[in-house]
Amino acid sequence: MEKIYSIILASGKGERFDYYKPKQFIKIAGKTVLEHTLDIFEKNNSIDEIILVINPEYRALTEQIVINNHYKKITKILNGGETRKESSFIGINSINVDNAKVLIHDAVRPFVSDRIINECVEALDRFAAVDVAIKSADTIIQINDENIIENIPKRKYMMRGQTPQAFKVNLIKKAHELSAKEENPEFTDDCGLIVKYNLADVYVVNGEETNIKLTYPEDIFLADKLFQINSHKVPENVSLNALEDKIIVIFGASSGIGSDICKIARDYKAIVYGYSRKNNVDVINYDNVQNALKEVYEKENRIDFIINTAGVLNIGKLEERDIKSITEEININYIGAINVVKAGIEYLKQTKGSLLLFTSSSYTRGRALYSPYSSSKAAVVNLAQALAEEFLPDNVKINVMNPERTATAMRFQNFGKEPDGTLLNSEKVAIDSLKTVLSDLTGQVIDVRKSRS
Ligand code: CTP
Ligand code: MG
Repeated sequence: MEKIYSIILASGKGERFDYYKPKQFIKIAGKTVLEHTLDIFEKNNSIDEIILVINPEYRALTEQIVINNHYKKITKILNGGETRKESSFIGINSINVDNAKVLIHDAVRPFVSDRIINECVEALDRFAAVDVAIKSADTIIQINDENIIENIPKRKYMMRGQTPQAFKVNLIKKAHELSAKEENPEFTDDCGLIVKYNLADVYVVNGEETNIKLTYPEDIFLADKLFQINSHKVPENVSLNALEDKIIVIFGASSGIGSDICKIARDYKAIVYGYSRKNNVDVINYDNVQNALKEVYEKENRIDFIINTAGVLNIGKLEERDIKSITEEININYIGAINVVKAGIEYLKQTKGSLLLFTSSSYTRGRALYSPYSSSKAAVVNLAQALAEEFLPDNVKINVMNPERTATAMRFQNFGKEPDGTLLNSEKVAIDSLKTVLSDLTGQVIDVRKSRS
């Protein structure tokens, strides 16, 4: 079978992004944008080889990233050129297989889907050039240098270009060679060259709104959110059988999700230590937390996973609530998480283990009558994102579960009986929590939803 090549363009400087390093090195959810993009191509079954085109100033950093991730498909790390076009030509020229199929992709589009990649590869059976584009919700207008409209093309025929762009390699080589012969070659992307020299029909695969290019500083906010919607699904292909003999410490273990996690982990033969105020371990007391972990470590000599489900929810207008109950709520929900993480990290470094915290869907947007709760849950997410980066060198993972409304005693106390079928079962949350600690994920918010079957 012929090989399918991909060229990942990462040689830009990211001037418009205005970060102290090129934007491909900014981190989202614990990983650089470049790694997110490379991960997608490394895992995609249609792609055989990755040719990485880099900025030579950042060769050491890039090579370290490639080594740390054990990428198997990367066969070349090439120094790029002054412009995207040059970088792309350098990548193309390195492929010496006649009529190979190649996809050229921006490293700074870390949300490209397998669906897009696969459709590009398939389309190359029928076309020698393929672009990816999305329909425009806005009307596209054509103006002149005086800002006067010249033309309003039919919106139906207007699309916005993305990457990857895919080609038979001989064709795109020829296009670049023609362009190189010109005195003032135009700055256009690879598909633009094919169109300019009228070398072939360029077929368009539907892109996706989420396949954004990080260009300006504000794009990082969107990127963070997209990660929350996109990849924050409960990890698949994780077997709970891997829990056997694992040492798990659970705070907030006496009821609700915490107690279900204990039960299920034990069913799968994990060795579980559960703590709560019932056995005199209060997460707001750092000594309590430290002592609990020490006790487990002295007995077992290792701790693999630490899970904190302790939390409280009190409803009411801030103005009407007393400061003591507000402070207590914040302490349990937020300081509790800090205590558990801070006391636990030394043990997890030894096992390259995993930490798990809990948030609520109100973390993305403060909710009236819940202000201390929703804001402390937002703080927990922010905390985990920061710590995921701090813990990366030690290979310790930290994630946050975000269950939908779940049937727990805490919920019943605050909301009374709710209609059947509207609440998530806390055993499902427990299973997904255990799958998460067993996975390689870090820095993620994992949404747990009711199965809508
Ligand atoms: N690129 C490249 N070589 C260049 C310029 C750009 O490989 N000489 C790559 C970038 O790394 C990026 C993609 O082409 O993945 C899209 O380019 P763009 O968004 O313009 O990135 P930068 O050129 O880095 O950003 P800026 O134009 O703001 O400096
Ligand atoms: Mg650029």
